[in-house]
Amino acid sequence: MPGTWAPGRWQGLPIKQQPTWPDAAALASAEERLKTSPPLVFAGEARRLQDRLARVCEGRAFLLQGGDCAESFAEFHPDTVRDTFRVLLQMAVVLTYGAKLPVVKVGRLAGQFAKPRSSDTETVDDTTLPAYRGDMVNGMAFEEEARTPEPARMLRVYSQSASTLNLLRALAHGGYADLHAVHRWNLGFVAESTQGARYEALANQIGDTLDFMAACGLTEETSPQIRETEFYTSHEALILEYEQALTRIDSTTGGWYDCSAHMLWIGDRTRQVDGAHVDFLSGVGNPIALKAGPSITPDDLLALIDRLNPHNEPGRLTVIARMGHEAVEAKLPPLVRAVQGEGRHVVWACDPMHGNTVKSSNGYKTRVFDQVLAEVRGFFAVHRAEGTHPGGVHFEMTGQDVTECLGGAQAITEEDLSSRYHTHCDPRLNASQALELAFLIAEHLREERAATAQPRALHG
Ligand code: PEP
Ligand code: CO
Repeated sequence: MPGTWAPGRWQGLPIKQQPTWPDAAALASAEERLKTSPPLVFAGEARRLQDRLARVCEGRAFLLQGGDCAESFAEFHPDTVRDTFRVLLQMAVVLTYGAKLPVVKVGRLAGQFAKPRSSDTETVDDTTLPAYRGDMVNGMAFEEEARTPEPARMLRVYSQSASTLNLLRALAHGGYADLHAVHRWNLGFVAESTQGARYEALANQIGDTLDFMAACGLTEETSPQIRETEFYTSHEALILEYEQALTRIDSTTGGWYDCSAHMLWIGDRTRQVDGAHVDFLSGVGNPIALKAGPSITPDDLLALIDRLNPHNEPGRLTVIARMGHEAVEAKLPPLVRAVQGEGRHVVWACDPMHGNTVKSSNGYKTRVFDQVLAEVRGFFAVHRAEGTHPGGVHFEMTGQDVTECLGGAQAITEEDLSSRYHTHCDPRLNASQALELAFLIAEHLREERAATAQPRALHG
């Protein structure tokens, strides 16, 4: 790489999946505004997340990362943010209680506004326009004006992210996440379902446990973990003008941090080892992640690890495998072996969504819930066989009662898809499917625990 790293070094490198901003002056002005805006997160928070992820890396915790495929301006509402947060809390208690492992909660939230696309343009009848790249770049409507990339959108992303983060911080620390409220997190429409009933039974057990602990003197006054939770944000670092403008020097360590989110990831389509995205994230101190689809080879992965985590720090790098349910058991083992063979520390996470996108016969982009679960099972099976820790999951979900993925206990059919299909990009799990996924993962983690438990020393 030429010269030492700087937040703008990526500008001289090959880059994929970018808009062509038509108005250079508007771009410069938006960048200037962002540069002088307050950071959205602090470097110290990003370091704390890296510490939590180091525990995941060592097999002492589990990563739960989820949220929207793409946030949007139109669907921004405090209830939507709260409901996503609350389903993540529900999933986390199912996992913590079921698997007896601390859960590191990271939202795809407060910054997830830019999307890689399979084509740069879209053609309808005789008209060809730039593809929709997420609300950070342009509008979804198939009209020339909407599709023209507009830099001022980055300012709106910043401001919506700031409001979202403000709400998330209040939800995490202001009483909503108090474990005594575990019953109240069950959303009305989920409570009616099989998953809701299963959750209710677990919430009752947690209530009993809290009563027991209180009797022993462990209360929310003595143990803040009971009344609040840690919650982190993440998004794909795709539009580097935005990320660069929010990258600041941390006064405590003197290092650079991308203060747009706690954790940033590189998408499967922008992970070229000599490309701009890898270069940019190689230089920031945040914990980062890399999406790894079926085309990645063990050598590619090792070269990326050398660039992204040269000091082999546990928790610095998460590899999010998204192979597809049919490929995971063939594609993942060579990667895991190569990384183990070189003694490299990574968190292994499974994205069971992006390798399992299909088109329904009535034209919807959808995912079959059973295939999503099958990829998660395959991921656990591979780690069991290789003796490595299945560190976490990464998925697209919403707290709303949508009908975007097929199947699940509600048995959503192709005909049902049209009734509540609201996503701005990829189909998401609804609250009840997300909970079902959490119960499945908890079972796998319990099995993993039983399989790897050390036999207790016998006392003579
Ligand atoms: C995504 O996470 O929304 C995404 C586009 O994923 P990937 O880069 O794995 O295709
Ligand atoms: Co997606």
